Amino acid sequence: MLFPDYRPRRLRQNEAFRRMIRETVLSVDDFILPLFAIGGKNVKNPIDSMPGHFQLSIDYLIKTAKTAYDLGIPAVMLFGIPDKKDALATSAYAKDGIVQKATKALKDRIPDLLVITDVCLCQYMDHGHCGIVEGKSVDNDSTLDLLAGTALTHAKSGADMVAPSDMMDGRVAEIRGILDDNGYSHIPIMSYAAKYCSSYYGPFRAAAHSAPQFGDRRTYQMDPANSNEAIREATMDVEEGADIIMVKPALPYLDIIFRVSQEIDLPVAAYNVSGEFAMIKAADQMGWIDGKKVMMETLTSIKRAGADIILTYFAMEAAEILNGRR
Ligand code: PBG
Ligand code: ZN
Repeated sequence: MLFPDYRPRRLRQNEAFRRMIRETVLSVDDFILPLFAIGGKNVKNPIDSMPGHFQLSIDYLIKTAKTAYDLGIPAVMLFGIPDKKDALATSAYAKDGIVQKATKALKDRIPDLLVITDVCLCQYMDHGHCGIVEGKSVDNDSTLDLLAGTALTHAKSGADMVAPSDMMDGRVAEIRGILDDNGYSHIPIMSYAAKYCSSYYGPFRAAAHSAPQFGDRRTYQMDPANSNEAIREATMDVEEGADIIMVKPALPYLDIIFRVSQEIDLPVAAYNVSGEFAMIKAADQMGWIDGKKVMMETLTSIKRAGADIILTYFAMEAAEILNGRR
């Protein structure tokens, strides 16, 4: 394979050749669109750092989800913004909580769109942490009950899959157990298995009002410096009964996505998080990059690294481009 016998440029000379040997092909089928549900009617509050995204009351949520469905996007991921917060996150597992109501409404109106629910407590806790706080620390084992209870109410509301993002130890087993005991053994769990303590979540926390009121999440989310630990986390979740393993964020952790996809025998999801989205949007608005092209390159890189599924705020924009190519 040496020049001049081999000339890699031969297969790059036109789009037909390039298409023929392309190794990674993005598809609308790969996408999950995250959506933010809030109470009230006729509410569509723009999220400043996430252009094109809104806190949506259920009426608008249905409209947006319908647009996504019509674009061919198979699934949405629901995050709730509750009316009230307390020290036990009671709105997270209330029968008529925002995610529970939104899930019912979506499954009622767009039955074939998969509704995945984020299972965590931070938006519902007055202190903004992902578990029960005792003193200054987040207590693992007492939190498991609340997480499992939350997942069960989501399933009862019609969720097609639950996605725990709290990073407490043992939560996948706890959720699997409660779902199985209540007749929901068919509901899969997508585990945020390797979720890093990242500063790329900033725009999301502003949108979901979920920033911790003291300290940070370093005692439960992973240290960005670690890679072997991601494999241990993912392996545990496989053993506890996870169906899909997620790595989050995506871009600064492409190496983790690659390793997990090589070493773990389950579908791998990657979460292209709010800060990754915001940076591209900001640079595009400044005229410093071509936002659409950078979006497609970014999503392709996440898939090339090994992700089977991509959670992304770009889902609808990218779907429009992909659909236009057909
Ligand atoms: C809450 C949660 C977060 C995200 C998803 N679920 C934020 C956090 O852990 O602080 C981040 C998503 C994003 O930035 O797009 N458990
Ligand atoms: Zn949380």
